[in-house]
Amino acid sequence: MSATINLEKKHFPVLLDELIKIISPRYSGTFLDCTFGQGGYSEKILENANNKVIAFDRDIIAKELSIKFKNIFKDRFYFNHKKFSEIKNINKKDIKAIIFDLGYSKEQVTDKEKGLSFNHKGKLNMKMGLNSFSAHDVINKLDKDELTRIFKFFGDEKDAKKISNSIIRKRNKSLINTEDLVDIINKEKKNYNFKINKSTKVFQSLRIFVNQEISELIKGLINAYELLPIDSYIVVVTFHSLEDKIVKFFFKNYSEDKRVSRYLPISQNTNKIFELINKKAIVPSADEIKKNPPSRSAKLRYAKKIKDGANFKEFLNEFKNLLEIENIGKKLC
Ligand SMILES: C[S@@+](CC[C@H](N)C(=O)[O-])C[C@H]1O[C@@H](n2cnc3c(N)ncnc32)[C@H](O)[C@@H]1O
Repeated sequence: MSATINLEKKHFPVLLDELIKIISPRYSGTFLDCTFGQGGYSEKILENANNKVIAFDRDIIAKELSIKFKNIFKDRFYFNHKKFSEIKNINKKDIKAIIFDLGYSKEQVTDKEKGLSFNHKGKLNMKMGLNSFSAHDVINKLDKDELTRIFKFFGDEKDAKKISNSIIRKRNKSLINTEDLVDIINKEKKNYNFKINKSTKVFQSLRIFVNQEISELIKGLINAYELLPIDSYIVVVTFHSLEDKIVKFFFKNYSEDKRVSRYLPISQNTNKIFELINKKAIVPSADEIKKNPPSRSAKLRYAKKIKDGANFKEFLNEFKNLLEIENIGKKLC
């Protein structure tokens, strides 16, 4: 059955043709769409009548849209209003691929209430859904050093310290909203790069922190591995370098032959659990970037699971510092 879902502000699904080329040889089974969004990937996968989709999204708007999908695709489609760090206990032996399309849908970025952009005004927010605190709490409650770490490590912001100092000074007089934060950044920051807005990095770091994107991704990848049958795929589309670094490490580190112990037989003596089919990330064509400029920073990486029983100590250790910074958020819950 093929059906088209009509949406007013339709989000362009990024790298869709490339994704379908990778997963279509594995059609006739269940696909996990961990970031349903506006359903661009799910819709395309469901065009094949032998496929099922189990979708996840933390945003309530995605949940509302999923009802249209349910009405059309019936028992070939299930939606879970959950974070993808919670993809567990799905008893499905026929999962063919688990797909993550990170980042934000067009609808989320333009949603004034979510306040993801520095072009919006009013109270800071940035919650995607199912959050414990907002950007307002972060900017108005965390101390100078905590803010500096967030801006520096999640936004690679060179002037992190100056910006946090200025936030604390201003905060002593009144609460800080979106325009105040933009003002502070404009005053404190040198213009190193005229091509990007001065607020880009601080806003990116706040979005990552508020939505706990690092721990979400790390837990999501580990859970995806645990759920996946041998020979099935994990496919991830990332939108910023920090996300891509995590995904690249996850696939690369566990697709190389490394001796685990000199006492084990050769067949068991490796932590290689993935086969990397493409060593390099797949990026959008010039044509796609022309049609949809935000796709320019997208990178797709994927791998085939070849072995059970992985131990992810090295993975968790590699990103320990970032996980510790996200943990600061516990103070705000
Ligand atoms: C770029 S959009 C996905 C677009 C989708 N592939 C499509 O074609 O319409 C990313 C979506 O992932 C969701 N998302 C991001 N992080 C999530 C998480 N940790 N758990 C569940 N959903 C998440 C967002 O709410 C957003 O709807």
